[in-house]
Amino acid sequence: MSLICIVMLSVSCKNADKKDLVTAGILEVPTFDLQSAIADCDSQLEISVPKLTDLTKHPRLIETNETEWKEVNNHKLVWTSGFYPGILWYAYEVTGKDKWKEEAIKRTEVFEDFKNITEHHDIGFMMFPAYGNGYIIGDKKEYKNILLTSANSLASRFNPKVGTIRSWSNKMHPRWQQHITIIDNMLNLELLFWAAKNGGGQELYDIAVTHAETTMKNHFRPDYTSWHVIEYDSLNGDILNRHTKQGFSDDSRWSRGQAWGVYGYTMVYKETKDKKFLDFAQKITDKYLELLPEDMVPCWDFDVAQDPNEEKDASAAAIVASALLDLSTLVESKEDQERYYNAAIKMLASLASSNYSGVGKADSFLLHSTGAKSLGHEIDVALIYADYYYIEALARLQKMHKQ
Ligand code: GLY
Repeated sequence: MSLICIVMLSVSCKNADKKDLVTAGILEVPTFDLQSAIADCDSQLEISVPKLTDLTKHPRLIETNETEWKEVNNHKLVWTSGFYPGILWYAYEVTGKDKWKEEAIKRTEVFEDFKNITEHHDIGFMMFPAYGNGYIIGDKKEYKNILLTSANSLASRFNPKVGTIRSWSNKMHPRWQQHITIIDNMLNLELLFWAAKNGGGQELYDIAVTHAETTMKNHFRPDYTSWHVIEYDSLNGDILNRHTKQGFSDDSRWSRGQAWGVYGYTMVYKETKDKKFLDFAQKITDKYLELLPEDMVPCWDFDVAQDPNEEKDASAAAIVASALLDLSTLVESKEDQERYYNAAIKMLASLASSNYSGVGKADSFLLHSTGAKSLGHEIDVALIYADYYYIEALARLQKMHKQ
């Protein structure tokens, strides 16, 4: 059944009690043309891919009011290297075009040696979108050992005294002398779960679960919003301080941090089927939804959102839209299924609209993301990971409607 049919069915229940429909989320369903959103991504890639020929680099951002991707080196310290190949794998999946697969292979296979990165946690962000999607979508079974090695490299940063994987190292950030874990690290667990299921061993699974449990205990405030950074004592696991790097202030609610949490705990529940993770995923998701503005795209930090001049972060919206589609298939009650599904559709409709779409304006799928305003860069730009999670959401939606 196509998405358009679903929407038409939803709005045809005219005789039902209006309150029931609102409770069920049905009246909230906006129209969203999935095929046209996929066609837009395809045509944006037709424009950008021929311009991106240097295999030693990857597109990272498009500056405000510019049209073309700024490329940065595929360097082992650059956490965004995997997203461009990841986009190409999803483009192959949603369009079926072999040329995107060929391009994806080319862009994936240039950084195989990143499998040995042990200097930081971002190896999950770097390897799974590229090699993981290549294995799953592109049937590239030869990527298996690369992924297993990458998972072991990531696991080498787990400290059992703390119960988490160490995100950053002293050499990279001299301010932090101890064991730093950031909320973003939740996403890296997907690599460990995958590896555990594919011959990597139980220990990888256990590390992922322990990291998720420790983060659930320490990284969230009583209202289910997240801190960005925790510094732990590496010898006894005590919390030394909680602060931010990319949020507005140490105690503020950085939107993308909350988005990483929503995505991370949804994925952890999908992998473990442990209900405590589902319950937690729902609580932090509901908090995120409660804080959203009408257009479903948050300001870069929820605590500056009252100022209309503060910039948006479309990347957070894309991350959460993708997570919500999964969450809508994992929750038990029909009401929750519809509530999360409808919220995801509203987010995608907003992102695909001329308010956020790059079509006709720049080479990206999306505009208006904010990477690190607190550090003075990537403010109101296009970001490669916003595009990655957006096309992932489209791929998930397409799969849901094929079943
Ligand atoms: N993982 C870095 C970020 O969210 O900006």
